[in-house]
Amino acid sequence: MSVIKMYNEIYEKDFRDVFEQYWKYITYNKVTQEQIKSCQDYILKQVANQEIFMSLAIDNNTVVGFSIFQIDNEKSDWNKLTGYGFIREFFIVPTKRCKGLGKELAKYTTIKLFSMGAKKIYLDTAKNAKDFWLKCGFVSTGKFDESNSNEILIYKKEK
Ligand SMILES: CC(C)(COP(=O)(O)OP(=O)(O)OC[C@H]1O[C@@H](n2cnc3c(N)ncnc32)[C@H](O)[C@@H]1OP(=O)(O)O)[C@@H](O)C(=O)NCCC(=O)NCCS
Repeated sequence: MSVIKMYNEIYEKDFRDVFEQYWKYITYNKVTQEQIKSCQDYILKQVANQEIFMSLAIDNNTVVGFSIFQIDNEKSDWNKLTGYGFIREFFIVPTKRCKGLGKELAKYTTIKLFSMGAKKIYLDTAKNAKDFWLKCGFVSTGKFDESNSNEILIYKKEK
């Protein structure tokens, strides 16, 4: 059975394992264990300080995906659109894809961001995930992020 819930420390080891898969995926495996650990530590510290937030997809008590999000603000290390919800990182492990889990995690994340006060929600997407986000209710803004060239999408519905 699958559930979506907010991160809790009991899932730390599981999260680290899934994050390692994610980081290797987005860096095409060009990353050291030291770099992975430092990134995991940085994220978990920001989550503990509530600078960013994380929800988990859990299948049979095992973490199989995560969504990392925030509301852009001046204190953040990323603040492109102050007051907007921003989905920073998003991943479902390969063995659990195409079962609707990504869509559920995205829905949970948007509801959570609206409940936290976001009026609008955006993200930047790699080319191969764009159609997934369109199915989750996002639309293109026609703009691209300067730092990674990813296309910027915005959630159709407002709070
Ligand atoms: C993109 C990703 C999150 C999708 O997760 P998933 O659990 O397989 O997605 P779902 O099963 O919920 O799919 C929802 C819908 O999107 C479609 N979809 C899923 N991935 C897709 C893709 N890469 N391209 C096109 N359509 C896709 C599904 O067919 C489904 O369509 P339907 O509603 O008509 O049935 C997952 O493939 C992933 O983690 N990829 C690697 C990391 C990544 O790209 N993250 C996003 C960074 S912006």
